[in-house]
Amino acid sequence: MSTYRIVSLPGDGIGTEVITEGRRAADAAIAAVGRSIDWVEYDWSCETYRTTGRMMPEDGIDRVRDANAIYLGAVGSPGVPDHISLWGMLIPLRRELDLYANVRPVRLMPGVPSPLANRSPEEVDFVVVRENVEGEYSAIGGRMYDGTEHEAAYQQAVFTRRGCDRIMDYAFALAADRRAAGKGGKVTSATKSNGIVHTMPFWDERFEAARGRHPNAETDQFHIDILCARFVTNPDWFDVVVGSNLFGDILSDLGPAVSGSIGIAPSANIDPTGRNPSMFEPVHGSAPDIAGRGVANPIAAVWTASMMLDHLGEAEAAALIEGAMETVLAMPEGRTRDLGGRASTRSCGDAVVRAIEAA
Ligand code: NAI
Ligand code: MG
Repeated sequence: MSTYRIVSLPGDGIGTEVITEGRRAADAAIAAVGRSIDWVEYDWSCETYRTTGRMMPEDGIDRVRDANAIYLGAVGSPGVPDHISLWGMLIPLRRELDLYANVRPVRLMPGVPSPLANRSPEEVDFVVVRENVEGEYSAIGGRMYDGTEHEAAYQQAVFTRRGCDRIMDYAFALAADRRAAGKGGKVTSATKSNGIVHTMPFWDERFEAARGRHPNAETDQFHIDILCARFVTNPDWFDVVVGSNLFGDILSDLGPAVSGSIGIAPSANIDPTGRNPSMFEPVHGSAPDIAGRGVANPIAAVWTASMMLDHLGEAEAAALIEGAMETVLAMPEGRTRDLGGRASTRSCGDAVVRAIEAA
């Protein structure tokens, strides 16, 4: 294939600013390997919600289903409750497209200050794999006796054998790829089977079964509380960390926090079967506090674009972006304010494109 069809959803706030730069990086890198991207942009966002009452049109999912990938900025706007933007767009996209693996690489980049003292880039290089469609984030539950002294709320977690097995197999496959690339290769399971006595022992059983299917892999497991502590005290212990929807959510924000700025952290929502387009988005949100000022760090969106091209089988283009990103982060004038520099979103994006073209 020489042209990819990619749906671009810039969303709200800095989403629109950083996606512009990420697209320029993707275009430059894919052109360098002789191919192109046909971008299809939709303005689905809290802005559209204000005028239409919907985050995305009723046939939104059908409009993206045939794309090769989806590239999303962020949604969220003051005045629109976050559960509207989440359940009106992000969650339907993840669930209806069965994007069951949420993948967030964590790497300390040269030039990026980390809150962890005395850690070098080689010591912080791991990936959090989060189960993205079931677990604790279910809509099953309800409230009773509202407003009385017997008021109660119930929320049901859902762990299926299929859901656990497939996310764990994904984590083991990723670890095997990383081992082949000369990086670690261990799978760590995030559990809490001492306190949550039904779903978490089941998760542990499924992890044991997954170990049986991947007998050559190195593994370990930690309860989520001490695991959070270890991310801070011993980030060098980890390579691929697999967790349920809730635990993975927590770890995948903690990971980027230990590696520096949220302004550089990328993520992918993947359907490993390839039946549906996977969706790629920076970890950060729409940052209303800095939106519209041209100061947002575009590197998270740029790194996300690299993950997207890699997923599409364009490893060479992906590597071009990653190399450019490292070059730009290493130059003081390439860094935006969140990294202590003075670059604007645009000038950082320009530097990335120049570095890709010079490679
Ligand atoms: P946020 O990630 O938007 O911002 C947190 C802090 O990090 C802010 O101080 C912001 O200025 C800074 N920041 C974030 N990205 C940055 C970048 N690229 N460069 C420089 N600084 C950056 O998280 P927050 O404030 O909790 O949420 C704001 C809105 O975004 C909410 O409506 C929330 O629901 C939404 N959100 C959407 C997400 C998505 O679409 N996937 C993910 C997270 C939040
Ligand atoms: Mg989160």
